[in-house]
Amino acid sequence: MSYEMINSPETVQIDDLKFRVLISEKQIQNRIRELADEISQEYGGKVPIFVGVLNGAILFLADLIRQLSIESEIDFIKISSYGDERISSGEITMIKDFSADLRGHDVIVVEDIVDSGLSIQYLRRKILNMKPASLKFVSLLVKRGVAKVDLTIDYVGFEIENKFVIGYGLDYRQQKRNLRAIYQLVIDDPTRSKTAHRDEA
Ligand code: IMP
Ligand code: MG
Repeated sequence: MSYEMINSPETVQIDDLKFRVLISEKQIQNRIRELADEISQEYGGKVPIFVGVLNGAILFLADLIRQLSIESEIDFIKISSYGDERISSGEITMIKDFSADLRGHDVIVVEDIVDSGLSIQYLRRKILNMKPASLKFVSLLVKRGVAKVDLTIDYVGFEIENKFVIGYGLDYRQQKRNLRAIYQLVIDDPTRSKTAHRDEA
């Protein structure tokens, strides 16, 4: 079996949960190139520091900085709001703090996905206290209409509907981050299955 087939199948089954490709590897990489061009233009002559939010953002950050035409630095933080489940607890704790001193730097926070927006809100407060020269946010995905807080994401890869997704850094119980595409949970529509049953009967 080839490497491509192992890491980008059409569907993924985890116990009784079925996931289907939502955004292909190619679509992801094309969009990242566009975002990198935009950022390179806006930060021309500057050396922004990209702060990746572990663990989910590592693949996105790695691919994004490789497409930049400007100098950059990187740092990582780890926060937790989810535990190992699919629903946010709403409570945020810092698990690994910044290593870099962000004072006076142009900071770009790199997120995998914005859901409730609570993580972003928490990070914004925390980083602004460190007095950066500027602060922007880039997120590969944003769930449409879900944010509980007023937030500005400066660069968005894709807006998606409010369904659970895995792959390309995003996990289900810490696994499936290595998938090369993004997969969405298939939720069976009960009205459709009823019709199907009637058809069969
Ligand atoms: P927020 O604080 O609710 O915006 O949550 C953001 C974090 O929750 C993301 O950085 C992800 O780590 C995680 N998350 C939110 N939605 C999903 C999802 O659909 N799949 C996997 N992780 C998710
Ligand atoms: Mg995350």
